[in-house]
Amino acid sequence: MILVTGGAGYIGSHYVLHERERGSSVVVLDNLVYGHREALLGTRLIEGDIRDRKLVEQVLKDFNVDTVVHFAAYAYVGESVTDPSKYYQNNVASTLNLLDAMRAAGVGKFVFSSSCATYGDPEYVPMDEAHPQNPINPYGETKFMCERILQAYDAAYSMRFVSLRYFNAAGADPGGRIGESHNPETHLLPLILQAARGKRDSVSIFGTDYGTPDGTCIRDYIHISDLAQAHSLAIDHLRRDGKSRFYNLGTETGHSVREVINLCSKVSGKPIPVVEAPRRSGDPPRLVASAARAKAELGWAPRFTDLEETIRTAWNWEQKRTY
Ligand code: NAD
Ligand code: UFG
Repeated sequence: MILVTGGAGYIGSHYVLHERERGSSVVVLDNLVYGHREALLGTRLIEGDIRDRKLVEQVLKDFNVDTVVHFAAYAYVGESVTDPSKYYQNNVASTLNLLDAMRAAGVGKFVFSSSCATYGDPEYVPMDEAHPQNPINPYGETKFMCERILQAYDAAYSMRFVSLRYFNAAGADPGGRIGESHNPETHLLPLILQAARGKRDSVSIFGTDYGTPDGTCIRDYIHISDLAQAHSLAIDHLRRDGKSRFYNLGTETGHSVREVINLCSKVSGKPIPVVEAPRRSGDPPRLVASAARAKAELGWAPRFTDLEETIRTAWNWEQKRTY
C-alpha cells in the first residue's frame, strides 16, 4: 500500500489517479487546507495533518504501508519570504515528523516532491542534478533542507528515497477529469487561461527587461501526467532495491512568458490582455532542466514534449472545471 501525503492537491491528485490506473492500492493523507476532495475521484482519504505523529503512525500501520509519496507542503514562494516560520514548520518539521513515524512503523521507502527552486540562480542551463544548490528563498531552502535530511536518514537508518526536482508543473488530466486549482492561484498558465475566459481582466508579465530573447522569463513547463508517471517509476526503482537518488523532471525546453501567452491565445482562440509589470523578486531569468538522468536510470519518457498540447489539456479543464 502506498501512502500519498498531499494527494488531494494539484500534483498529488494526478499522481494518485495514475497510480490507481496501473493497479496500485493507494491511501491519501491530506488536511484539505489547499487540497480538494473532488480531485480524489473516490480514492480513500484520511483527512488529517502530517504533523499529527500519532495519526501518521496509525495510518502507516492500519493500511500496511510500505512506501510513502510525500507531496504535502506549502508552495507559495512569495509567502515563504514574508512568513518563513510557516514554511519551515510545515515543510521541514512536518517532513521530519513523517520520516520518524515511518522509522517507528518500519517503512523504508520514500518519494519526495523537491523543486528546481533548490538550485537558485542558474550558473548554467540546462541544469543537471550536479548544478550547485543555492536556494534564494525560504521555500527553496525548505526543499533543500529536506533533501539533506533524507541523505542523513539513508546513511544512518537505511531509509531509501527518490527526490524528484520538478521544474514548472503544468496542464491537466488529458481525460479532463481533474486539473489545477490553487486558491489563491499564482501560477502563470492558469492565470492566463482565466484571463482568456474573461474571469480576470488581464495577466501581468512580471519583468520585460531580462536578458532573454524577448525580455521575459523562461521556464520549463512539464506536463502533470509526465510528472505522475515519474513517481511510479521512482517507486519501481525503490522496489527493485535501487539506491537513493535525485532526479530533475522537465521537458529540457524553455518557453518565455510571452511565448506561453501567445500559445494560450492560439489554443483558446481568445485575445489575452496583458499588463507589463515590474520583475517579481526572486525570479531567475531562465530555468531549463536536463532530465537525462531520469530518462537513463528510470526509463522516464515524457509524452508531452509540445507545450501547445500541454496547454490544450489545461484549457480543456479550465472550461469545465468543477472545483
Ligand atoms: P498543492 O497545494 O496543490 O498540494 C499540496 C497538498 O498538501 C494540498 O492538498 C494541501 O492541502 C496538502 N497539505 C499541505 N500541508 C499539509 C499538512 N501539514 N498535512 C496534510 N496535508 C497537507 O501543491 P502542488 O502544486 O500540488 O505541489 C505539490 C508538491 O510539489 C509540493 O511539495 C510542492 O512544493 C512541490 N512542487 C510543486 C511545483 C509546482 O509547479 N506546482 C514545482 C515544484 C515542486
Ligand atoms: N509570471 C508572470 N505573471 C504571473 C505569474 C507568473 O509573468 O502572473 C511569470 C513568473 O515571473 C515566472 C513564470 O511566469 O517567470 C512562471 O511563474 P509561476 O509562478 O507559474 O512559477 P514559478 O516558476 O515561480 O514557480 C513554480 C512553482 C514553485 C516551484 C517552481 C520551480 O510555483 O513551487 O515552479 O519548480 F518551486
